[in-house]
Amino acid sequence: MLKKIAIIANGGDVAGFNAVIRGIVKTAENSGIEAYGIIDGYNGLLKNEYVRLSTAEDGNAEGILPKGGSIIGSSTNANVFNYKITNDNGEVEYKDVSDICIKNIKEDGFDCIFTLGGDGTQKSARDFATKGVKVIGVPKTIDNDVACTEITFGYNTAVSVAMEAIDRLHTTGETHHRIMVLEVMGRYAGWIALESAIAGGADVALIPEIPYDIESVARKIKNRQSRGKNFSIVVVSEGAKPKDGEMVIQGTRDNGAGVDNTKLGGIGQVVAKQLEEITGLEARNTTLGYMQRGGTPTAFDRVLSTKYGVKAMQLALEGKFGRLTVMKNGKLDDVSLEDVVGNNTEIGAVSGNTEKSNIRKVPMDHDLVKTARSIGINLGD
Ligand code: F6P
Repeated sequence: MLKKIAIIANGGDVAGFNAVIRGIVKTAENSGIEAYGIIDGYNGLLKNEYVRLSTAEDGNAEGILPKGGSIIGSSTNANVFNYKITNDNGEVEYKDVSDICIKNIKEDGFDCIFTLGGDGTQKSARDFATKGVKVIGVPKTIDNDVACTEITFGYNTAVSVAMEAIDRLHTTGETHHRIMVLEVMGRYAGWIALESAIAGGADVALIPEIPYDIESVARKIKNRQSRGKNFSIVVVSEGAKPKDGEMVIQGTRDNGAGVDNTKLGGIGQVVAKQLEEITGLEARNTTLGYMQRGGTPTAFDRVLSTKYGVKAMQLALEGKFGRLTVMKNGKLDDVSLEDVVGNNTEIGAVSGNTEKSNIRKVPMDHDLVKTARSIGINLGD
C-alpha cells in the first residue's frame, strides 16, 4: 500500500515539468496518496528538503498546467553518486552521497520517488533502483535524446519556439536579402534543428549526426539565388560540426564529476561568417538559447506531460518500479530503467550526456531525415 510519494524535477528545465507534477499529484490524490515535491532536484534529496503538494483549492499544485519552469525547482549539478564536496581544507573531493539520500527517503516514509529528467537523471534513478529504492522515471528534455522513447516532454515546445523564430527570420531575411542562421539547442542530437527546419520551411538544417560540408550549404544558397531567391534560412544545431572538424565550445560548466561539462555554442556565428565569405551575401546569426526552455508548454506538451504523469502514478499503483514511462509506436508504454541506461551500467561513475551515455540520436533512416531530403532541405552532406 502506497501512502506517500515524492517527485523530483532534475536537470535543465523544460516547459511541461509542472504539467507532469500535476498529473502525478492528481492521480495520487484520487487514490488517497499524499504527494510531496523534493526541492531543487537530487540536491533536495540530499539536503532532505521537500514540500507537500496539493491540488486542493489554493493548493500549490493547483493552476500550474500552463506554467513554465518547475514549482519545485530543478538542478543541473546534482550527481549524488559522484557529488562535489569542498572539504575543511578547501579542497574539492567527489563522494558518493547516495546513501544519505536513501536514508532520508526511508525516514521520510516515501514509498516511491518519481524522477522527471533526461538521461543523466534517469541514470541516477536506475542507480537508486539498483540500491533498492522504488523509483519511476519520466523522460524530460528539450533535446529529445532519452533512449527507449519516441518523445520527451518539453521537446515539442522547444520545436515550436524555434519554428516561430524561423517564421520571424523569414520576413526580415527576405526584406534585406540576407542569409539568416538560427542556432538551436539539442546537445549531441539534432532533433530540434531538424524538426523545426521542416516546420518552419528552412532551406538548410545542420545536425550533429551529419558532419557538414560548408561548400554544399553554399551551393544550396547560390542555387536559390540563381532562381531569384536572395535570402535563405539555415538552422544549425549547437552540436553540429564540419566534416573533419570539431564542435564549437563556448566554455565549461561546473556540473560535477561524471557528467558532461561541455558548454556548447557559437557554431551559428561560424557558419554565418563562412557563408557570407563564400556566397557574397550578407549573413546574420541568431542564437535562440534559453527561449527554447522557458515559458508555457504547447497543447501537445501539456497533454503528453499529463499522460506521462498519470501513467507514472499508475505504474506505482500497480507496483511496477524501476521503470520509465515512454512513447512507443505512438502509444503510452513503459520500459525498464536498465534498458534506458544501455551499456552505461557502472553505478554512479557516469551520469549525463557523456560518451558512455545511452542517448538517442537522429537515425539516418528516420522519417524526419527522409522528409527533409525529399523537400530539398540541405543537410550539409
Ligand atoms: O539538455 C538541455 C540543454 O538545454 C541543452 O540543449 C543545452 O546544451 C544545455 O541544456 C544547456 O545547459 P545549461 O543549463 O547548463 O546551460
